[in-house]
Amino acid sequence: MAPDPTAPILLFDSGIGGLSVLAELRKLLPQAPVIYAADNRGLPYGTKTEAQVAARVAGLLGRMTERFGPRLACIACNTASTIALGMVREVLELPVVGTVPAIKPAAALTHTGVIGLLGTSATIRQAYVDNLETEFAQGKRLIRHAAPDLVGAAEARLRGEEADPEIYAAAARGLRAQPDGERIDTVVLACTHFPLVQEELAKALGPDIRFVDGAAGIARRIAFLTQGQDFVREKEDFAVFTANGEDLALLAPALAGYGLTDHAIF
Ligand code: DGL
Repeated sequence: MAPDPTAPILLFDSGIGGLSVLAELRKLLPQAPVIYAADNRGLPYGTKTEAQVAARVAGLLGRMTERFGPRLACIACNTASTIALGMVREVLELPVVGTVPAIKPAAALTHTGVIGLLGTSATIRQAYVDNLETEFAQGKRLIRHAAPDLVGAAEARLRGEEADPEIYAAAARGLRAQPDGERIDTVVLACTHFPLVQEELAKALGPDIRFVDGAAGIARRIAFLTQGQDFVREKEDFAVFTANGEDLALLAPALAGYGLTDHAIF
């Protein structure tokens, strides 16, 4: 059965990282109604245990699906996807698109054969990432580094605040200081927050680094799964947050830039 044309696409992240996915989705489906959900009460996910992340994501997505009746949910967060995508797909009766570290396209791009991967602490230790490496980066070297401080830096940037440049320098050092690190020519941004600070990372890592993230691929997957469906935007798109706070007013201008003109607390 075709979905209600006003049914939204639900994009879910712990914070504002999923906006990097929303930007790509707007290019392909500008007419699609979107609800952007940020579990800012649970932010950051990257320093939590697998059980904590899985419980939050499955519980919240279940309740949000009931409340908002989306036609499709996207977990626009690598940490949540690499931990809980399978479980969420089992419990929700709608298509669920996840976010997978873009190791496959990075392996196709690298000339030196050395790929860097920046993610959260939780993401870089997942078997999901080991499997992607085995499947797509045979014969290449994948150097992983957990850069949880970049999450806060991206959040700050969208509030219009400057983050300490040392955060970017430390992320670059974390990759470069590992064996073969100086030969990295391609960096996977395996956290949806990180494309939002790509410029700063580019400065810290030096020239000629190519960055790869999953946002455009996720948008294509959503467009594919909804092809042939009608989209009617009845009211302006909005964001929902799981915690209230002064920072939400500071985020409002950036949210508006992504077409999210209002926000509510869930
Ligand atoms: N945006 C999330 C990701 O892609 C991580 C942010 C967090 O640590 O909550 O992994």
